[in-house]
Amino acid sequence: MFSAEKDRDMVPIQSLDIEAETKLGFNLYVNLPLNQKYVLYRKAGGSIDSDRLERLSRANVSNFFILKEDYHEFVKYVALRIRALIGSEDSAQNRRLMMNSTKSLLKSTLDQRDPALVNSLMQNLNDIAVIVIESVLETSLPHHKRTFRKLLELAAKGTDFQKHPVNVASLAILLTFGIGYSNEKILSDMAMSALLHDIGLSRCSPRLVSLAHQVKQLTFEEREQLYSHPRATLDILDERGIRLSQMARTIILQHHEEFNGYGYPEGVRGYNLNELAQVLRIADDLDGLIHEITPDAPSAKVKVAELLDNYHREKIVEPSLLGRVRAVLV
Ligand SMILES: [Fe+2]
Ligand SMILES: [Fe+2]
Repeated sequence: MFSAEKDRDMVPIQSLDIEAETKLGFNLYVNLPLNQKYVLYRKAGGSIDSDRLERLSRANVSNFFILKEDYHEFVKYVALRIRALIGSEDSAQNRRLMMNSTKSLLKSTLDQRDPALVNSLMQNLNDIAVIVIESVLETSLPHHKRTFRKLLELAAKGTDFQKHPVNVASLAILLTFGIGYSNEKILSDMAMSALLHDIGLSRCSPRLVSLAHQVKQLTFEEREQLYSHPRATLDILDERGIRLSQMARTIILQHHEEFNGYGYPEGVRGYNLNELAQVLRIADDLDGLIHEITPDAPSAKVKVAELLDNYHREKIVEPSLLGRVRAVLV
């Protein structure tokens, strides 16, 4: 063990669900907070046996670090593990693997209370999800890869609002996969709808967009305009000749609908509501929540629990779907 690494050389990573006995492509460090030292836990090329992995999780070691120069190896390692399960046969064992790998990524991102750490872990999720989404689009919708690239470029130099579609796409694709969807077509429909879901907001005034979550402060006309943004998204796609599947269009149209029938634009109720549209809504809310984290506010973990409880209390999300989502997030 040694501890020569400095803060600036290290990148925090999610407590990955490392497969026992598989070769790691990067040095893995843990941080000892008492003396602020990084300790090499495993060398690149080494592996961790199942006993050690179990001890690690029992000791509640949740934050790992890697050297900056190993970052791409880490992103590739996780993305490839997820990719290997996409399109795999639908078995209980595969579903468990899908749930566990997503859970370790999402949970350790959202369990934090330091906003800078959450942002950095969210960036890891985006980098991982980008590889996964690109490879999925390549197999099912090659012409959409260009749209995806353009949105990524925009997000890379963008404000939080421009980053929103990419964050939501990452969260949505990981959630969809984590609750058991491994079909390429479904995952690419989800990726495209998540990336494009809010382009209809470009037809609303900036004031309206900034108050989208405080509708009480909006006039009647403004509210009507806000409520029509899922439809405006589809109109814009039609005008620009961007063709999406019927499933992707439904996910976009219904991303603000609620199981209780009080959502918009159509007030779709109960089992008429598309399951993936509800997953997109959850990803959308999770991204909103990530931006609300400040050092003095409750941790993201507490906020996620409150969000899920609210879905349950208000019957916003279909109960059995909510159970599956909870299993991945909490
Ligand atoms: Fe929206
Ligand atoms: Fe949104």
